[in-house]
Amino acid sequence: MTEIQRFADGDALALAGAEFFVQTAVIAIGARGKFTVALSGGSTPRKLHQLLTREPYVGQVDWTKVHVYWGDERTVPPDDEESNYNMARETLLDHVPIPEDQIYRMRGEIDPETAATEYGRLIKANFDPPQSRFDLILLGMGDDGHTASLFPHTAALDEVKHRCVANFVPKLDTWRITLTVPVINSAANVVFLVSGAKKAESLKAVIEGDYQPQIYPSQLINPEDGQLIWMVDEDAAALL
Ligand code: 6PG
Repeated sequence: MTEIQRFADGDALALAGAEFFVQTAVIAIGARGKFTVALSGGSTPRKLHQLLTREPYVGQVDWTKVHVYWGDERTVPPDDEESNYNMARETLLDHVPIPEDQIYRMRGEIDPETAATEYGRLIKANFDPPQSRFDLILLGMGDDGHTASLFPHTAALDEVKHRCVANFVPKLDTWRITLTVPVINSAANVVFLVSGAKKAESLKAVIEGDYQPQIYPSQLINPEDGQLIWMVDEDAAALL
């Protein structure tokens, strides 16, 4: 099921995202004693993360039962300002009591193929059947319609065997590490957080345009047996 939720601005969007995060965590922990979430990179999640470290949200989650992964990572060290891990540490992980051995970092500082293989094996090992999927995957969307590090016309878009791959991104002239479409589409809940006028054109193309996933990779995200929610602010939704 796909749902589009529109919010006045980035602050309202972050509040809605924090609400959903907490609700999903409480349900998962109540049902199975564990909540598995893959965080997104970029800047949009920052406000959501910061809200989670404060009441009324921080006290609602048993953080000792939370397991944190990433949807993608840049090929930089963990203390680099470009690192998605570093952003999450600064805005969330350094402020809530998640056990360190439940924070699973993509090692952007090593060879990307090695890091991707290692991460794919980690996910395979950590997700025992029948709970073999993420409870929640948070995603952003770039101005070009990419998500995670699934960029237009890149090899990772077609990957269906591995859970995590290294993906060379010509427009950035860099390697990235990214979860692949099958892993994301196996999640119970996938939430896109999209904010700002710069996203309006690509959001319209992704949501209402022809199916052209090589051009708009976010169109590949369609959970088989899960919920897809687009949380967008009015600036991003202006052309819908
Ligand atoms: C990354 C992200 C990427 C991001 C989008 C949106 O590593 O950059 O995972 O997919 O979510 O580029 O980024 P903003 O939230 O900064 O607009």
